[in-house]
Amino acid sequence: MKRMLLLAGTVVLAAASPAAADDVDRRVAASRAAVKEFATALQGQLKAALEAGGPSEAISVCNVAAPEIAASISERTGWTVGRTSHKLRNPGNAPDAWEAATLKEFRTAANTGAKLAKLERWEIVDADGGRQFRYMKAIPTGKPCLTCHGSEIDPAIVARLDALYPEDQARGFQLGELRGAFTITQPID
Ligand code: HEC
Repeated sequence: MKRMLLLAGTVVLAAASPAAADDVDRRVAASRAAVKEFATALQGQLKAALEAGGPSEAISVCNVAAPEIAASISERTGWTVGRTSHKLRNPGNAPDAWEAATLKEFRTAANTGAKLAKLERWEIVDADGGRQFRYMKAIPTGKPCLTCHGSEIDPAIVARLDALYPEDQARGFQLGELRGAFTITQPID
């Protein structure tokens, strides 16, 4: 029941019973919906800010709005919803062991030709506080992301990023490369 396999971008769950499989299907669907809500809200705000005030304005969206959107979805669902990466901007988004292992799997899968936009992984794990359903979905680096995560960032943006994130590692990304992942933890019992 706990195992799943990552097969060229799709995840297949080896379920012990149909009832358990139903529950997992429901959790996967709900996680996908939450990720979609998060991504859509963020993209909308980012686009509006870029149009209104340029990249400098948009940094505030990522800096303030991204954690706020994550917090509001987390509060409503009772889950932990966020973003993480193997190369972090905000150290507060650091992956835990399960997330770090999943990011590694995503990178390996991408290196062997898997489509990043389709990569996801889920698993039921035993944690200190009880069982948890863990879910992650890969985030590819798109063209608009290069403004703040690429290798030729405008000096004015570099200055703002340096001030806000002295330990920033989230630069130098190439188009299509794995930027990070959405991550969700659902407590089960
Ligand atoms: C206007 C600048 C800007 C743009 C454009 C931008 N980001 Fe970011 N990004 C940031 C900032 C600032 C943070 C730190 C947010 C925080 O403090 O949680 C961040 C954080 C992240 C994180 C969380 C992990 C970490 O490193 O802290 C991910 C994942 C991410 N960005 C992906 C993207 C993707 C994908 C795109 C393109 C769709 C994108 N970003 C576009 C500025 C930007």
